[in-house]
Amino acid sequence: ERQTKVLEVLKSAEVGNSLLVKGWVRTKRQNKNVAFIALNDGSTINNLQLVADPSLITEDVLKKVTTGACVAAQGEIVASQGSGQSVEMHVKSLEVLGEADPEKYPLQPKKHSLEFLREIAYLRPRTNTFGAVYRIRHAMIFAVHKFFNEKGFLNIHTPVITASDAEGAGETFRVTTLDMDNLPKTEDGAIDYKEDFFGKETNLTVSGQLEGELAAMALGQIYTFGPTFRAENSNTTRHLAEFWMIEPEMAFFDADDNADLAEEMLQYLVQYALDNCGDDLQFLHDREVEENKNKKETERPELYLLDRLKFVVDNKFERVTYTEAIDILRNSKPNKKKKFKYLIDAWGADLQSEHERYLVEKHFKKPVILSDYPKDIKAFYMRQNDDGKTVAAMDILFPGIGEIIGGSQREERLDKLEQRMDEMGVPKDELWWYLDTRKFGSAPHSGYGLGFERMILFVTGMTNIRDVIPFPRTPGNAEF
Ligand code: 4AD
Ligand code: MG
Repeated sequence: ERQTKVLEVLKSAEVGNSLLVKGWVRTKRQNKNVAFIALNDGSTINNLQLVADPSLITEDVLKKVTTGACVAAQGEIVASQGSGQSVEMHVKSLEVLGEADPEKYPLQPKKHSLEFLREIAYLRPRTNTFGAVYRIRHAMIFAVHKFFNEKGFLNIHTPVITASDAEGAGETFRVTTLDMDNLPKTEDGAIDYKEDFFGKETNLTVSGQLEGELAAMALGQIYTFGPTFRAENSNTTRHLAEFWMIEPEMAFFDADDNADLAEEMLQYLVQYALDNCGDDLQFLHDREVEENKNKKETERPELYLLDRLKFVVDNKFERVTYTEAIDILRNSKPNKKKKFKYLIDAWGADLQSEHERYLVEKHFKKPVILSDYPKDIKAFYMRQNDDGKTVAAMDILFPGIGEIIGGSQREERLDKLEQRMDEMGVPKDELWWYLDTRKFGSAPHSGYGLGFERMILFVTGMTNIRDVIPFPRTPGNAEF
């Protein structure tokens, strides 16, 4: 007999049904007459209460039913006496599939800190918080594919192993089959990649964009959704060395079309979560309220999770150019007395996260689409504007997150692209295949990249990017 998922039991089981359930024990309360076991199987944040009568289930078995143990229970669904759930199970037979020594099991039925749980990331899906986060993460993966499929975009798998550095930031992980202690050399002393499995110097991809552009130049509208790798040694709450990125690329889209699509997609994803992840979002919302209840008014968020999500769905994003943003920052007083010293004379400088956060959280108080950045702080492939100084770039900034999307209209004019590559020292000979698209049937096109974990941060209200990916890869962290 197959087990029924707890989600199904709670949603649609009828009193009198005889069912089998399997899952992990969260808690057990027991007295002489009865044992109450809270069972979770990951299908929902809610537990199924098992009621075990010691005259049916021997003390020997019940002894092994401890927090963390895996059990199978067969019994009858009855109306619940307790509050908070409509049904529970009267257990007829109980089997302990896997014990969990209470002396050694690290997850006790109490609130553990997120820092502690990060150290036992292999067990943390068994907590309410991480169960909720990973279920929402799954729903968002599904919603991304649903959104693009409904629009007729094709999902393209781009390679993980490449020979190019699409962002030109030099933050790649090398990939080689060569013996590092005994590197083969060419006559002039360089590493001889001919002896490497790929015969070429290769690295893990930082972005699928360049290959995505090739596909869009034939298939029209495509998107990638894959892992990307950045060997930047940054220990922040927003950066991972391995993260997932969604990169749509659209032939015949200009910068405005690009921004429109990005805004529509972000609102669609948030709405999907509101429509489909109610129990998990409510749990995370309540958790946030609880965490903040002892804080001073000024330190509490203005809106809690569910209200933040509704706000994003209900309000158009603000659209401003980089130049307008610099003016705003120059004239602002972030902390009553002082202005942003750094920006007073700094047209051309990249915005620091404190500036981005000021614009989004203090000035506009909504998501912001910032466009037309100075060309020197952006990648070589962005389309040059007529002013000769800026490119048709866009970053989307979210409250509490900062940059969630980076994108642009692409430079489709061969001469302009080559000129820019020369100026920026991007090797044209290595990217000959990319340049070919500008030689044969070039077309205006645009695209962007959504950092998937940053999106999950926003949708779950979690504050550290290590807590929204099951197995985070950050400097020094790769064991499990
Ligand atoms: O701004 P980025 O570097 O843009 C690109 O890679 C372009 N090729 C995208 C495109 O136009 N197709 O990265 C895009 C997004 C960022 O806005 C951010 O959300 C996320 O990817 N991101 C990271 N997320 C987690 N950890 C990191 N180290 C990240 N670096 C970028
Ligand atoms: Mg960026």
